[in-house]
This record gives sequence, structure tokens and C-alpha cells, in this order.
Amino acid sequence: MASSTSGHCLFLAALLLLSSAAYGQQLSTSFYATSCPSFESTVRSVVSSAIGSDPRMGASLLRLFFHDCFVQGCDASILLDDVGTFVGEKTALPNANSVRGYDVINNIKAAVEASCPGIVSCADIVALAARDGTVLLGGPTWNVSLGRRDSTTASKDEANRDLPSPAANLSALITAFGNKGLSAQDMTALSGAHTVGFTQCRVYRGRIYNDTNINQPFAKLRQSNCPATPGVNDTVLAPLDLQTELAFDNAYYGDLLKSKGLLHSDQELYNGGSQDTLVKKYSSNSAAFFADFVTAMIKMGNINPLTGTSGQIRANCAVVNN
Ligand code: HEM
Ligand SMILES: *[C@@H]1O[C@H](CO)[C@@H](O)[C@H](O)[C@H]1NC(C)=O
Ligand SMILES: *[C@@H]1O[C@H](CO)[C@@H](O)[C@H](O)[C@H]1NC(C)=O
Ligand SMILES: *[C@@H]1O[C@H](CO)[C@@H](O)[C@H](O)[C@H]1NC(C)=O
Ligand SMILES: *[C@@H]1O[C@H](CO)[C@@H](O)[C@H](O)[C@H]1NC(C)=O
Repeated sequence: MASSTSGHCLFLAALLLLSSAAYGQQLSTSFYATSCPSFESTVRSVVSSAIGSDPRMGASLLRLFFHDCFVQGCDASILLDDVGTFVGEKTALPNANSVRGYDVINNIKAAVEASCPGIVSCADIVALAARDGTVLLGGPTWNVSLGRRDSTTASKDEANRDLPSPAANLSALITAFGNKGLSAQDMTALSGAHTVGFTQCRVYRGRIYNDTNINQPFAKLRQSNCPATPGVNDTVLAPLDLQTELAFDNAYYGDLLKSKGLLHSDQELYNGGSQDTLVKKYSSNSAAFFADFVTAMIKMGNINPLTGTSGQIRANCAVVNN
């Protein structure tokens, strides 16, 4: 028994060694420990000053990472500008006039290049900035595995297809996350990111006028500056979490229990379906939410990274190297 167990262990260890040595696919928390030891502190200080002048930026950076990872994997494809005939992801429906934080990523890149030229990928900057945004708004921390490289391509079509719609129902949300290797629990925990940040009238209009599973005083409150017909107020912002819009806490789940989710997709998590029990748990147990959120963020950060000699380290996050 004992010898057969250790035989299996040796075999597994050999397999692990082979796969990491031969393919070098593993991300690692110490990836830049010798090549750019100041990387983490540089990111923290730039994100901290960005949040100092715009507290919403912590939320925006968290969302940027999600929108990067769901399209071709966490490869900084979202950062590429449309140049000449090159079509990037910035003009895809879920991103256009909505995703923020590109300037902050560029500022971090400039600061990192000054001390470690050509070493750190834009994809890793996005991953770390999302973690720091979360922490600086009061959320949980975790060690970020690094070593992602930057894509030479982007996909507007995939951004339009794979990023979930705020009009999605629960089964569509579970499918969209399942397609990326994330479970229904991961989806429900990651949606807790909507405990911070804002959304535009044009995006939540359908919910506040047409949904029936919404708290009526809440719907009326949101209707007061978001008229039913498109117009000048289309970009008026409302907080995704009614209670504490810039604190990373579990209040979002409490909103859902009261039918005060602002996106249709938010309220789908608590509408008599499979995630109701988990929403109740997270609303009453912030430690459980934080733990599952961290687990799911780490999983999301592992979606299809470019490693080893794949891709490149972009010099400018917005354009592919010559
Ligand atoms: C479950 C499916 C999801 C849908 C349908 C969704 C949709 C949206 C929409 C429509 C907005 C507002 C956009 C606007 O009005 O301009 C938004 C904002 C936001 N989303 Fe999500 N999202 C989802 C999951 C996530 C995940 C997984 C994260 C991160 C882990 C995330 C983080 C955020 C943050 C932080 C904001 C506020 C950003 C800001 O204020 O700049 N979302 N989301
Ligand atoms: C991060 O890793 C360090 C070193 O392994 C460890 O001491 C620390 O507890 C970890 N932090 C978290 C939040 O997991
Ligand atoms: C959920 O949405 C999908 C895609 O839009 C649709 O095909 C499906 O019928 C919907 N499911 C339910 C239960 O409404
Ligand atoms: C509400 O639903 C109706 C019928 O589908 C549609 O015509 C209308 O545009 C919707 N209103 C809003 C504000 O989304
Ligand atoms: C548009 O938004 C402004 C500012 O929030 C508000 O004062 C005004 O009443 C809104 N207009 C409509 C038609 O809702």
C-alpha cells in the first residue's frame, strides 16, 4: 500500500516537473522577484494615487481585468487601440464608452518601464491593478500569480460574444462563465464586484422601467433622473450598490435580497433560482464572500495566459511591438 502510494507520487511529481520544465506554462507569484523587484510597489503607488483623485477608479480597474480575461484570456488584448486596419476590443459594445482605466494602466507601464525596461507585461499590470483596486476600496487581498505575456491580436467579435450582457438571465450567465472554466459559484462571487462602481442610465433603463422583480420605491428613485426614452441623460450614473458604492463589502448581496439589484443580470442571482442560497450566505457572511471572491479572481486570472515565448512584452500597452 505504502509503496504503491509513493510510486504514484513519484510518477505525478515527474509529470509535474516535465510539464513545467518543458512547457514553462506556470504563472508564479515570484515571477519578477529578481527581474523587477519594485513592480508590486510601483503598481500599488500609482493605483493608490489614481484612486486618491478618482475613487471610482478602483472599481474601473477591477472591471478592466474581467473584460481582458474573458476575451482571448488575460493577455492585455483589451488595451490595444484601433490603428490603421487593426481592429481592437475598445469599440466592442460592452467596452465602448464604458470601460475606464486605460490611462492608469499607461501610467503604471511608464513607471515600471523607468525601473525595469522591457520586463513586465501589460497583462500582469492589469491583473495586479485589479487586485490593488479591490484592496484599496476595502476588499480582500491575495497573491497574484504573474508571468502573463501580451497578445499581438485582439478580438472585437469575441468581446461582443463572450462578455455577458446586463440583460442576461441566470442560465445565460452560468453558461458565459462556464465557457471560461468558471463555476456558477465563481460567477455569483465575482458578481459581488458590483459592490463598487457605477452604471449608466442607458444600461439600466430596461430594468427600472420594465422589470417586475424590482423594489418599486427603488425603481422610482432611479427613474427620477433616467427617463424612459433615450436622450441627454443616457450617461447619468447610478451606483451598482445602493448602500456603499465605493466600499468593497458584501452589501451588494443585501441589495439583491431586497430586489434592489440595478442590473437585470444582478437580480437574476436572487430571483428564485439556483444561486439564492449562496446570495443569502454572502449577504450574511462577508468572510465567506471574500474567500470565494479571491478563489474566483485567481481562477479568472488563470484564463488562457500567454507564457514562455508566446506573445510579447509590449513597449506601449496600446500597440503591438513592431
Ligand atoms: C456577471 C456578469 C456581469 C455583467 C452582465 C456585468 C455588467 C456590467 C455592466 C453593464 C456594468 C456597467 C457599465 C456601464 O454602465 O457603463 C458593469 C460595471 C462594473 N462591473 Fe460588471 N458585469 C458582470 C460581472 C462582473 C465581474 C465578474 C466583475 C469583476 C470581477 C465586474 C466588475 C464591474 C465593476 C467593478 C463595475 C463598475 C465599473 C466602474 O464604475 O467603472 N463585473 N458591469
Ligand atoms: C502571500 O504569500 C506570502 C509568501 O508565501 C504569504 O506569507 C502570505 O500569507 C500570502 N498572502 C495571502 C493573502 O495569501
Ligand atoms: C435565457 O436566455 C437565453 C439566451 O438569451 C434564452 O435562450 C433562454 O430561453 C432564457 N432562459 C430562460 C429560462 O428564460
Ligand atoms: C419596455 O419593454 C417594451 C416592450 O418590450 C419596449 O418596447 C420598451 O422599449 C421597453 N422600455 C424600456 C425603457 O426598456
Ligand atoms: C437628467 O439628469 C439631471 C441630473 O441628474 C436631473 O436633474 C434631471 O432631472 C434629469 N432629467 C430627466 C428628464 O430625468
